[in-house]
Amino acid sequence: MRAVVYDRYGYPDVLRVEDVPVPSPAAGQLRVKVNATSVNLSDWESLRGSPAYVRIGGLRTPGHRTLGSDIAGVVDAVGAGVTRFRPGDEVYGDNLAMMGGFAEYAVAPESALAPKPAQLTFAEASTLPQAGAIALQGTAPTAPGCRVLINGAGGGSGSFAIQLAKRLGAHVTGVDNAAKLDFMRSLGADDVIDYRREDFSRQSRPYDLILDLVAHRSVFAYRRALAPGGTYRCVGGSVPALLRVLTAGWVAGRLSGRSLGVLVVTPGPAQFEPLAALCVAGEVGIHVERTFALDEVPSALAHVGEGHALGKVVVIP
Ligand SMILES: NC(=O)c1ccc[n+]([C@@H]2O[C@H](COP(=O)([O-])OP(=O)(O)OC[C@H]3O[C@@H](n4cnc5c(N)ncnc54)[C@H](OP(=O)(O)O)[C@@H]3O)[C@@H](O)[C@H]2O)c1
Repeated sequence: MRAVVYDRYGYPDVLRVEDVPVPSPAAGQLRVKVNATSVNLSDWESLRGSPAYVRIGGLRTPGHRTLGSDIAGVVDAVGAGVTRFRPGDEVYGDNLAMMGGFAEYAVAPESALAPKPAQLTFAEASTLPQAGAIALQGTAPTAPGCRVLINGAGGGSGSFAIQLAKRLGAHVTGVDNAAKLDFMRSLGADDVIDYRREDFSRQSRPYDLILDLVAHRSVFAYRRALAPGGTYRCVGGSVPALLRVLTAGWVAGRLSGRSLGVLVVTPGPAQFEPLAALCVAGEVGIHVERTFALDEVPSALAHVGEGHALGKVVVIP
């Protein structure tokens, strides 16, 4: 089968398409003929080997030869002990533990996958598992009337988070680069900020909830941007920024009646199926900006990693 592989961290030019053996599912796993794999910022980070936490599975060389975690496709073979699926079933899920989605076939644990709703295309379903889990968990503290700011809101997780926070009755501010301001408005953002021109932490009106997809500021900036009783949660960003939030942020929050922390996102079907149900019901929209073929994976990753993607980008092997 054809797969996009890499053997060292670097820029997209370290990726190449190779013929590799079709993987076999072990006990508790199944093989999926991949119809679509969406690109996440985590794929770009695993390609670059940065931030440092992505090297936990491989300090000097990548832990997985083939990237791509958010897969959607058709079950092709099942390993021993698999009970929920059989060949021919349409499935989707976040295969973070095994990756391998930028290929014609991928092997995934049964527990990572859910039945694909018939109303969603494979491309649409592949956008939901990781970005959906982040968006659902990140916006969970939202209450009607509260002021929510989403930093990095024009990308994959942010495009769902804006819609979910609006649905819960919040006043939503989306922060991203200038090219994504209209897109964030179209998703329902009440206010938008171009982060290259304006620093949200220096505004006079503080927020009740900040969901930060790309943390890099000081904890004092985040505390300043929060209203009393407010909550700041980051899911991604630079390692120093995340460590500062975990340490000084926790203390600064406690001392000032605010809550600053890192959101460790729980993966799995229970975390993204509720969003799929909202999409099927037409209450949340899925925005696939572009699709790429397998041999265009380097361009697809660069498109997301260099910040050009509006919403989600999908690879169709
Ligand atoms: N905590 C967990 O358990 C967990 C689990 C899975 C994933 N993650 C992380 O969660 C994050 C999810 O991101 P995603 O998939 O939504 O990424 P994405 O689609 O790339 O969106 C991120 C957006 O942030 C923008 N951005 C970059 N720098 C910014 C800045 N300084 N201020 C405001 N916006 C900025 C980017 O545009 P430009 O670059 O053009 O500016 C882009 O539009 C990733 O970092 C991933 O590693 C965390």
